[in-house]
Amino acid sequence: MEPYRVYVTRRIPKPGLDLLAETCTVEVHAEDRPLSRARLLEKARGVDGMIGLLTDRIDAEFFQAADRLRGYANYAVGVDNVDVAEATRRGIPVSNTPDVLTHATAEMAWALLFAVARRVTESDRVMRSGRWMGWGPLQFMGNGVTGRTLGIVGPGRIGTAMALMSRGFAMPVLYHGPSPNPVLEQELSARRVDFDTLLAESDFISIHTPLIPQTRHLFGSEAFAKMKPTAYLINTSRGPVIHEARLVEALKEGRIAGAALDVYEREPEMAKGLAGLDNVVLTPHTGSATVTARTDMAVLAAKNLLAMMKGERAPQCVNPEVYV
Ligand code: DGY
Repeated sequence: MEPYRVYVTRRIPKPGLDLLAETCTVEVHAEDRPLSRARLLEKARGVDGMIGLLTDRIDAEFFQAADRLRGYANYAVGVDNVDVAEATRRGIPVSNTPDVLTHATAEMAWALLFAVARRVTESDRVMRSGRWMGWGPLQFMGNGVTGRTLGIVGPGRIGTAMALMSRGFAMPVLYHGPSPNPVLEQELSARRVDFDTLLAESDFISIHTPLIPQTRHLFGSEAFAKMKPTAYLINTSRGPVIHEARLVEALKEGRIAGAALDVYEREPEMAKGLAGLDNVVLTPHTGSATVTARTDMAVLAAKNLLAMMKGERAPQCVNPEVYV
């Protein structure tokens, strides 16, 4: 039998590519930048399987071009870049990479939380500029974390992991999500609350919800007005959950204390004014960027794709209804 033909839209860690190469002909986009739309559509033609990224729009036009596609593997847990309903309609399985990045992303949320609360990146900038004139009692006073209330929006795998990591800091935990989370309730006595209560009572709000129509711009002027002026907002999920221009206004006007963002509404761009603010910490969508997580994502994406191309159920399929 002819080996499966696979296209990978960006270089990913080698173990994933090696796994594919054992049985497939693999082509990888050689440049370390997103594939152009025209190239993506061109490369969709004639391949049995594709591994793509959150920067690739996998929509009806893509599936139309993909004339012999047997499966599409997203190198991410989020699948908001994929029109899954369209894939299902065409009987094409789609997979993602959950679990392997859970702790990496939860740790990143904590890194951001501490960085913004204790003004780490702001202080770092002063040190590098040579402007520090020596110790002073009033310098860079931030806010403590221990004992403060943590609010989790979207208590799925990553939100749950982040909340469980709060144990060392004796934080009361609130969460808001579509269903009760028994782990959080049993382990942390966390309270499931409505969105407004979470906004009003949390000192740190960490966003872990997927991007779906109901969560787009969940955080806008109205939400910021309901938050404590001393509260911080952390986002490691998807940028469009926050109305970024409204966030800039809220931060400028001191309606909330600060924000730490790993994701943006229109990546790689940022809302005007965001980068000029001192009460924000900004990282380039690196929540899952540990060597282990990114490598495991590559291997899982490869395993998913191999299964899908063989007509078997992928270990992590987001539209298993294609198999019935
Ligand atoms: C994801 O997996 O959805 C992240 O945003 C990138 O790892």
